[in-house]
Amino acid sequence: MHALSLAFDTQRLAEKSEELSSDRQLFKRGKWLIDDLNISEGESVLDIGCGTGLLAEYVADIVGPAGSVTGIDPLPLRIDIARRKIRANLEFQVGNAYDLSEFPENHFDTVYLNAVFHWLGEKEQPLQQIHRVLKAGGHLGLNSGSKDHPFHLEKIRNRVLSKPPYNAFSESLSRFPHLVSVPELVWLLDRNQFSINKVEVQNNIFTLANPEDAIDFSHSSSFANFIGHLPEALRDSAMDEIKQELERLRTAEGIRLEGHRIVAIAAKK
Ligand SMILES: C[S@@+](CC[C@H](N)C(=O)[O-])C[C@H]1O[C@@H](n2cnc3c(N)ncnc32)[C@H](O)[C@@H]1O
Repeated sequence: MHALSLAFDTQRLAEKSEELSSDRQLFKRGKWLIDDLNISEGESVLDIGCGTGLLAEYVADIVGPAGSVTGIDPLPLRIDIARRKIRANLEFQVGNAYDLSEFPENHFDTVYLNAVFHWLGEKEQPLQQIHRVLKAGGHLGLNSGSKDHPFHLEKIRNRVLSKPPYNAFSESLSRFPHLVSVPELVWLLDRNQFSINKVEVQNNIFTLANPEDAIDFSHSSSFANFIGHLPEALRDSAMDEIKQELERLRTAEGIRLEGHRIVAIAAKK
């Protein structure tokens, strides 16, 4: 399994991610996750992989002045943008799901990851860390791409990059994101001392105006891991091949991308 690189992010991608999250489905799905978590006023909440902080800002309004929201993300450029939203009950730090040691144990009422779990190559360490920082009975909410029904774009990317000349670069053959199936997720949560309140598979449908928008979306949400490992000279041709495949998904409304998303709500045992 190849680790994702956190070194490909750029200011343009970070700004793009803010723009795309706000007017596209990622934020909407985040709000559904927050609805499922039933967060109340006064709660202390951790947003892992907060990106540019839009959802954390939304949650800060829910918990109000008596509560607090901390957003962490390993990409400093995204945290810089998130920090524009700072207020008394909302803070952001560069941080990583693999190391929550700066937070005390039994500290948060709720921890959530919106569109982040599938970027974690190894999933038990983050779950152990989350278990430690949650209060007893505290809630974990996450959504993840589904291994059984991956998103169209991931399938197209993997198909194109499996061919020469791209397959000469080993990262091309790594299947990412690191998707889970429902049984795997249930097993992971159970093994790491979470009781499951809900696991649901939802349709994940994004309609984007054109292939360029779809690629922009993939670049910013994968922090350029989509094709960022390829030498510069091969990137344009890889993009062209991906765009051609995307064109086949065109409907009257635009390029329709489908897959499944798994949503899980669990409580610390
Ligand atoms: C698709 S974006 C989602 C951002 C945000 N949650 C939202 O809803 O807009 C995925 C995020 O996961 C973050 N991420 C990747 N690896 C991570 C890790 N090991 N720990 C925490 N966050 C991580 C990325 O930096 C990126 O901001």
